[in-house]
Amino acid sequence: MNFALSKLSKYCQDHTSPQSQALNELERETYLKTLSPQMLSGHLQGRLLSMLSKMKKPNTILEIGTFTGYTAICLAQGLTETGQLHTIEANEELEHIIRKYIEKTNLTDKIQLYIGDAKQIVPKLEINFDMVFIDAGKKENSLYYDLVIDKVNAGGVILVDNVLWSGKVVQKHHDNDTRIIDEFNKKVHQDERVENVLLPIRDGLIILRKKE
Ligand SMILES: C[S@@+](CC[C@H](N)C(=O)[O-])C[C@H]1O[C@@H](n2cnc3c(N)ncnc32)[C@H](O)[C@@H]1O
Repeated sequence: MNFALSKLSKYCQDHTSPQSQALNELERETYLKTLSPQMLSGHLQGRLLSMLSKMKKPNTILEIGTFTGYTAICLAQGLTETGQLHTIEANEELEHIIRKYIEKTNLTDKIQLYIGDAKQIVPKLEINFDMVFIDAGKKENSLYYDLVIDKVNAGGVILVDNVLWSGKVVQKHHDNDTRIIDEFNKKVHQDERVENVLLPIRDGLIILRKKE
């Protein structure tokens, strides 16, 4: 990130509602105990996801890629009284930290954690979703999108992270990963079933709304 952008990003964060003490602790523990802590969405994007969820008031949310649970907790903040968030994480070593913070934030009854491969688990979920957050293997965005689109209610929202791929999508020559991400962005942009907005927040977040 260049200097002007990082200053702007800090300014945005400084003028965004703070995250809870529990999320601060989770972020800190993630940086102390995991190998790729930068995968955690962080304050600004976390508050955006929480805000979108509170505006949407979903009954059902699906998250693909829990990591340490940071965004699951942010998204769950907007659930209806009886709402449920289903989140899938492939790395079983993260289970203890995810469950620790789900308990700490009193969300045990609201968050269902699945440990395993989302590609196997999503097709088995007989649930329709008001909101989906895709944040797992970036090269599989397209596959996850195809797996979830028919499970999303009309008016429901799909969010996909890292769609700018550190800005590489606008470079002239794409490496293989960038090409796959660019193809995904083009595919969903052209999909008549959804309307979309691509936000340059953090590493790029695309918001897709399934048409009524
Ligand atoms: C970028 S991190 C998720 C970050 C999290 N949403 C957050 O912002 O705090 C991606 C996670 O997806 C998980 N993952 C990758 N492939 C997966 C798969 N096929 N099924 C389930 N989880 C997967 C990884 O183990 C990793 O923890």
